[in-house]
Amino acid sequence: MERITTIADLRRCVDAARNDGRSIGLVPTMGALHVGHISLVERCVAENDITVVSVFVNPTQFNDKRDLELYPRTPDEDCALLEKAGCTYVFTPSVEEVYPEPDTRVFDLGGVAEVMEGRYRPGHFNGVAQIVSKLFAMVSPHRAYFGEKDFQQIAVIRAMVAQLQLDVEIVPCPIVREADGLALSSRNTRLTAQQRINAPRIADTLFKSLTFAQSHTVDETIRYVVDTINDVPEMRVEYYEIVDGITLQPVAQWSDSNYIVGCITVYNGEVRLIDNIAYCRP
Ligand code: PAF
Repeated sequence: MERITTIADLRRCVDAARNDGRSIGLVPTMGALHVGHISLVERCVAENDITVVSVFVNPTQFNDKRDLELYPRTPDEDCALLEKAGCTYVFTPSVEEVYPEPDTRVFDLGGVAEVMEGRYRPGHFNGVAQIVSKLFAMVSPHRAYFGEKDFQQIAVIRAMVAQLQLDVEIVPCPIVREADGLALSSRNTRLTAQQRINAPRIADTLFKSLTFAQSHTVDETIRYVVDTINDVPEMRVEYYEIVDGITLQPVAQWSDSNYIVGCITVYNGEVRLIDNIAYCRP
């Protein structure tokens, strides 16, 4: 595995691979890698000749300065994990390398970016579109891999790819969970011991809501999830929305779509956790 810090070096490596007819896969990350990220890297390695993993805590997608400061950074551990997973190039640029001047681009990402995270984290998805579009321009990958824990992010990236008419396949990868159900997240390391004990209640409630939903309306199911999680000490649901899996617009009834997903954000103490569950899939 080679560690690259400049865009010029990155371009040299990926251009050489492409000219040799090799396929290129990209896994964009913000580091603090865990088994969930590694599952994306392993899939990328299996499906492409070259795997590029970017490790970059992107400042433009943080609308909360403190969240950016507290975001975990573990570069040496990340590189060791990536080497073991078969990554070809790890790209770890500085902020100045990626943003030599402020990125003033404003993306029109449509309805998928306006709901849920779009409402609670204004500017977040524009920042994601800025960095991911830059990475796509630098690497020109054939495929790019994203985890389904960030369900809305995948829809937003697809919208950005369509808007810019980019030739890249977006590959969604399933959520990886701890044995107790907690969705893996770099933010889990910031939980106190007691918050970590309580955290699986989020996934547990989502899974139980699948049964609950069979005999209750959409609104009742939302109420059930929100009330159950809000009863856990230190937990506060920011939103729970049950939406169409493609448009991400709320559904009123279970018969409204054949692809329905529940998306949740919960503050566990001051740590913001997200998760989601599919009630039905096409
Ligand atoms: O999902 C993430 O870790 C980030 O939003 C991403 C896609 C790497 C962009 O910074």
